[in-house]
Amino acid sequence: MNILGIESSCDETAAAVVENGRKVKSNIVASSLEEHKIYGGVVPEIASRRHAEAISGVVSEALAQSGCALGDIDAVAVTFAPGLIGSLLVGVNFAKGLAVSSEKPLVPVHHLRSHVASNYISSDIEPPFLCLIVSGGHSHIVAVNGYTDFKIIGKTRDDAAGEALDKAGRVMGLEYPGGISIDKISPSGNADAYAFPHPKISGAPYDYSFSGLKTAVINAVHNAEQKGEKINIPDLAASFQKNVVACLLSNLEKAAEDFGYKKIVLAGGVSANSLLRSESKALCRRHKWRLYLPELKYCGDNAAMAASQGYYEFLAGVRAGADLNAYATMPIDIVKF
Ligand code: KG4
Ligand code: ZN
Repeated sequence: MNILGIESSCDETAAAVVENGRKVKSNIVASSLEEHKIYGGVVPEIASRRHAEAISGVVSEALAQSGCALGDIDAVAVTFAPGLIGSLLVGVNFAKGLAVSSEKPLVPVHHLRSHVASNYISSDIEPPFLCLIVSGGHSHIVAVNGYTDFKIIGKTRDDAAGEALDKAGRVMGLEYPGGISIDKISPSGNADAYAFPHPKISGAPYDYSFSGLKTAVINAVHNAEQKGEKINIPDLAASFQKNVVACLLSNLEKAAEDFGYKKIVLAGGVSANSLLRSESKALCRRHKWRLYLPELKYCGDNAAMAASQGYYEFLAGVRAGADLNAYATMPIDIVKF
């Protein structure tokens, strides 16, 4: 089965063709990231305008590069939630038009489920497994017990890990997105130079809280400024990153031990982080757990992962009609449309 995937939840306009959920035949991504950099974050209005301009060409290119004609496509899968509503609507409406006019089934796909599926196109992993999903908007520990069977074990109470890295990067005067800048600059810094708290939530051992860390980094910069001291940005970045990674992995370790998972999976934009990748490898080696990491090209937003998850949703009988809407928020475990 060939699934055409369409993804437009944030600032990437993407389309891809994937065969049987695993074999990527094409994967086209057009990003408006450069335009957002001067604002220090994604400007929703700009992102949706760029999606509207790019989507038709991106989908045509994905079909052309896959070697498939529209007639060879068995279903159209589209990200419908969660994300920026104006951005999502562009992909959803394009997919609806395409599905109706070509009489193909329309399969709505949850964006975080797609991030999990980035592993299906990177390796031969099959559920059940425990997955740490870390993106710009979410930090979840999820038990993936089947391709469409998700149970949230833990999640952030405030900021997502990516959001915390991006905000910290901004305070440090680094280029947006801060997560990528901090990853780049950290090897030249001393990760033990600054101490950060390790927030714990009583009664919720798998939940995260990152907003306090963000405040701590802001305070470190302001205190230094007030004292007329020069802050060492690589040291600060390396220390902050070390702390975020330690927080992410300590809850993941506890969840894997408590629930008995021996297959560990990472997903989402922050799974591209070099320290998170190396530390999760070390953690899994210590416990003799099997670790799966998405290929770097599938960590950020793309449509190959949406087409992959779309295939499994299709097999599970998930279909939407021409009344499909987009939703800014939606839990990964209870998907409604
Ligand atoms: O999954 P994603 O592309 O979009 C969302 O669904 O949110 O994740 C974007 C997030 C941003 O916060 C970005 O800073 C972070 O992923 N990110 C990274 C790295 N690459 C992207 N964070 C740390 N290290 C990286 N190498
Ligand atoms: Zn994403």
